[in-house]
Amino acid sequence: MIYNKIIQILLVEDEGYDVRRVRNTLKLFEDSIHIQDVVSTGTHALGLLAKNENNYDVVIMDYQIAGGLMGENLIKKIKEISPAIQIVVITKMTVNITDFNFANKLIKAGAFWYCTKYPGDIEDFIYQPTDFILSIFNAFEKKLLEQERLKSNKKLSKNIENILENKTIIGKSKQIEELKIQIEKCAQNNANILITGDSGTGKELVAVNIHYKSSRKFENFVAINCGSIPTDLIESELFGYEKGAFTGAGSKKPGLFEIASHGTIFLDEIADLPMHAQVKLLRVIQEGEIEKIGRTEKIKVDVRIIAATNKNLGQEVVDKKFREDLFYRLNVVPIKVPSLKNRGEDIPLLVEHFLNKFCSDVSKAKPAVEEKAMEALMHYDWPGNVRELMNVIQRLSFNTENKITAADVNNSLIYLPGTNRKFGTRIMEFFNSSEILSWREMESILKGSYFTFVRDQSESDAEAAKKLGLAPPNYHRMCKELGLK
Ligand SMILES: Nc1ncnc2c1ncn2[C@@H]1O[C@H](COP(=O)(O)OP(=O)(O)OP(=O)(O)O)[C@@H](O)[C@H]1O
Ligand SMILES: [Mg+2]
Repeated sequence: MIYNKIIQILLVEDEGYDVRRVRNTLKLFEDSIHIQDVVSTGTHALGLLAKNENNYDVVIMDYQIAGGLMGENLIKKIKEISPAIQIVVITKMTVNITDFNFANKLIKAGAFWYCTKYPGDIEDFIYQPTDFILSIFNAFEKKLLEQERLKSNKKLSKNIENILENKTIIGKSKQIEELKIQIEKCAQNNANILITGDSGTGKELVAVNIHYKSSRKFENFVAINCGSIPTDLIESELFGYEKGAFTGAGSKKPGLFEIASHGTIFLDEIADLPMHAQVKLLRVIQEGEIEKIGRTEKIKVDVRIIAATNKNLGQEVVDKKFREDLFYRLNVVPIKVPSLKNRGEDIPLLVEHFLNKFCSDVSKAKPAVEEKAMEALMHYDWPGNVRELMNVIQRLSFNTENKITAADVNNSLIYLPGTNRKFGTRIMEFFNSSEILSWREMESILKGSYFTFVRDQSESDAEAAKKLGLAPPNYHRMCKELGLK
């Protein structure tokens, strides 16, 4: 026995003398290869495979058999039922063995390889028996590998299900329904995608969904923010370098394109990609090859590119900040993620979703949301989109116990840390008011309310002073000036 298992064969052949020939040929290796069953039609073969009792490793099938179900059709059906099983096709000599179109067709349908038979019934063996036997041994090895791959994919599938569950796109508005359809469509093909939309609308979420729903899902999803990498490092980040390519290149480094091979690369903030890197990226898209720094031969890569930006990339082209040819190469399928202010009906669902998430994270009972509070959330214009809503809900879920009131919401909306919302809101109030305040008055109102807000958010004066970047004496002086204790 060559392997510590006998290779189990299902033979699909309708001519008695061809069955005999296969048997005679395989007899040479009977301690390693065993014909478990012989059937004369495709339907019978599928029936046995579906029962999955005999644990076949390799199907040897005649290309042309009676009963209608044959050839590529049969190959595809066998692979659907038993994806790991390998198929060696035997065919009449009328098929030229150097006919690569024929070989191509079979392999595309899912066959492992094919061998030819002598014409008529004069010979007792398959033509070129050693090739035939070799192909069965190779097919068996491939079957073992496939079995392993499928097993690990099964485990990965569980992880992918979890990822997709965590990354569900919440919303029932027409725009979101359309977006979901677009995602499903994009997952079925390989075209480059350009996702646009305001900050925090969910562009990265869309990219992640497309990747994990596509056939690339078992490979890497690599995200890079083109704006956050120093200009002189972007090429080596994207394409990698060889050891000694430049001073300081002590060991070789794979580029993100290599890491994303067979998967997806997400080029976030694509408008910030420097010109020299735009030229290189264009070449990668055109040639399907990357040029690694310090390496003369190019490397073939198969990567799907999803780019995203909150800028108007078309305008960047007009302003000569972005290459037009690259723009068209990336923008094969444009996806626009809608802003939250245009889809108020999604807000209750998102609020529910984030409340569930944040409360279960800290094992806290979920507070109810008063009707007026929900109204306030629905009427706000969410310049920071879903990310802003998420932050507001996170804060509300920390700060409220039983129910979230409209007042809670208003406080959270106005006092949004990290943004100038409070100032913005107040300033808008000033603009809309007929009363004109002096510069000093305006300054003291804004300063005062921001100061109190930070103080309210802090456990102690020391913490508030630290947050505001004020030395304690200055902090206390401010308190005094503002009439605060
Ligand atoms: N429809 C949605 N359902 C659930 N979560 C969402 C939705 N849209 C966005 N989010 C969440 O909001 C946050 C921001 O989304 P994401 O990072 O994808 O936005 P973005 O458009 O890439 O933002 P930026 O332009 O700032 O990079 C993420 O935590 C994301 O999971
Ligand atoms: Mg983003």
